[in-house]
Amino acid sequence: MIPREELLHLAREVAQHAHCPYSHFHVGAALVAGGNIYTGVNVEISSYGLTLCAERSALAAAISNGAGPVTQVAVACIDVPPQAGIAERTPCGACRQWLADLAPNAVIYIDGVEQDFSVADLLPYAFEL
Ligand code: THU
Repeated sequence: MIPREELLHLAREVAQHAHCPYSHFHVGAALVAGGNIYTGVNVEISSYGLTLCAERSALAAAISNGAGPVTQVAVACIDVPPQAGIAERTPCGACRQWLADLAPNAVIYIDGVEQDFSVADLLPYAFEL
């Protein structure tokens, strides 16, 4: 296990590389899969709906590298004010489904939130095939 704070620190660091010229909302994700660390950021393009979130970016990196099971995921939205609530920091619906499919047993750390989450906490009754 990578210490929670270490993985969150990495998520905050990588968020600085987010490509977010439209929203200016930097998000970073750092995850552990098969004992290795993979990171991702949100990538926005001119056709806004095709934006890739940081969580999916990190999951795609892990899959692309043939990584083992995802055990820990850290997400950091570094532009939210300190008083922002949980909903401003947690993964979007699409990313929750990606997590349900690709990281079903991971523990999820959200920067600025003390509580740890499971996928079921974030997406109860997730769709399954
Ligand atoms: N974003 C993420 O990267 N992850 C989420 O779970 C929520 C939203 C990004 C998408 C977009 O680039 C920006 O944050 C604002 O919505």
